[in-house]
Amino acid sequence: MAKFLEWSDDYLTNIGPIDADHRKLFKAVNDLYDSFAIDDTDARFAELFEMLAEYVDVHFSREEELMRGMGYPNLEEHLIGHQELATTVHEYAKIYRSDPGAISRKEVLKFLGNWLSKHILGSDMAYVPYIKLDHENKPTFPK
Ligand SMILES: [Fe+2]
Ligand SMILES: [Fe+2]
Repeated sequence: MAKFLEWSDDYLTNIGPIDADHRKLFKAVNDLYDSFAIDDTDARFAELFEMLAEYVDVHFSREEELMRGMGYPNLEEHLIGHQELATTVHEYAKIYRSDPGAISRKEVLKFLGNWLSKHILGSDMAYVPYIKLDHENKPTFPK
């Protein structure tokens, strides 16, 4: 099946755990797309959506910890973007659980795909130059 969100090297931050998270988020959105494309049951879509919402939280926490650890100057602005998306995704997850037909899946997927792509290429890439590297050139995560 054709991929909805196509991964490319443009999305690489070269920070291992962050790239792994981003790939996972791409996969979660593509799984939702597949579920939608084959007209899967509403229950499965809701379940996949909840998994995405949970992973969004995991990733945002990890990234925020990293940015705090490096003293990233635009942290507050970045946090607002994360908070807005997390709130939206959790709201959608709740709606899909209780009233699956209430919001167009196509519109939501389009929104998520655009958000993810724009956020990684813009906001996430902006913190990459601030990463502190240890003597082996590995990013330093706060304890
Ligand atoms: Fe981010
Ligand atoms: Fe990110």
